[in-house]
Amino acid sequence: MNSLHAPAASSAAAPADVAARSLFTPLDGIIGAETDSLDLSRPLDGGTVEAVRAAFRDHHLLVIRNQSLDKERMYRFAELFGPIEGHMIRLADGSKWDAVHTITNLDAAGNPVAKPFISSNYFWHTDKSFLREPSLLTMLQAVELPPNGGDTQFADMTAAYNALPEATRRRIDGLKSVQSLEFMRRYTGSAPPTEDDIAAAPPIAHPLVRTHPETGRKSLYIGMYSSHIEGLPEEEGRALLEELLEHATQDRFVYTHRWQHGDLVFWDNRCLLHRATANYEMGKHRRVLMRVVVKGSVPE
Ligand code: SIN
Repeated sequence: MNSLHAPAASSAAAPADVAARSLFTPLDGIIGAETDSLDLSRPLDGGTVEAVRAAFRDHHLLVIRNQSLDKERMYRFAELFGPIEGHMIRLADGSKWDAVHTITNLDAAGNPVAKPFISSNYFWHTDKSFLREPSLLTMLQAVELPPNGGDTQFADMTAAYNALPEATRRRIDGLKSVQSLEFMRRYTGSAPPTEDDIAAAPPIAHPLVRTHPETGRKSLYIGMYSSHIEGLPEEEGRALLEELLEHATQDRFVYTHRWQHGDLVFWDNRCLLHRATANYEMGKHRRVLMRVVVKGSVPE
């Protein structure tokens, strides 16, 4: 655990914490841990499940190497962390994303295209913060990777909050930012949402500083869906949100995941931001990831 984090709320190490510490090795960076000692194609015993949950609580991002899960197994593993979320994104044929879906740069004929289908994924965000109950955990599995690049980046919002000057922390504690699907689409240059989408997910205010329900640690809750600050003039709120985002995504708070074949990666949206990076020849090489999301609770 890096020194920018305050100690977790509980002190005595439970057996699952001890097992998690021997199963996972911290990554060389601000967050995350990895293991190559798990085979998720078979059900895990109770002790191992608890060890994985404890490691997730400690590290907020886990990398499990050498996996090749079908949709069913990936769903089963993800649901160990909570109920699986549905999606609003529509495919070309009008149907919605499956619970376990793919993120690709391939067109309907299976050819790589130069422009991403979901360009907003390339902006810093925390999944579905525009919902009353935003996503808890997102899981990606590498299916096809470009020879180089195609990385995913993660920023540690707890460390970023802890590194803020005391005066800024006092200024922002207790503020709420309005999260809006419609704002996000404008901000990222994406197609506007339909009236049905807006009716299903109207703008909602969440704490700008949220408290992690398991560790009790505070973190910044910001990103591309954060439109303005409740009770502040719009320009002042926008300036504050941009200032916080710039602070929170400095290199010192960021881990860059360089994908390897067989990687399964999942992270805690309650305290991390993430974004895809376009650092590969998108029109030439295939990049396919399987994705599933676990539903979270109302941020506090
Ligand atoms: C995502 O934002 O869920 C996808 C990230 C990626 O494609 O690397």
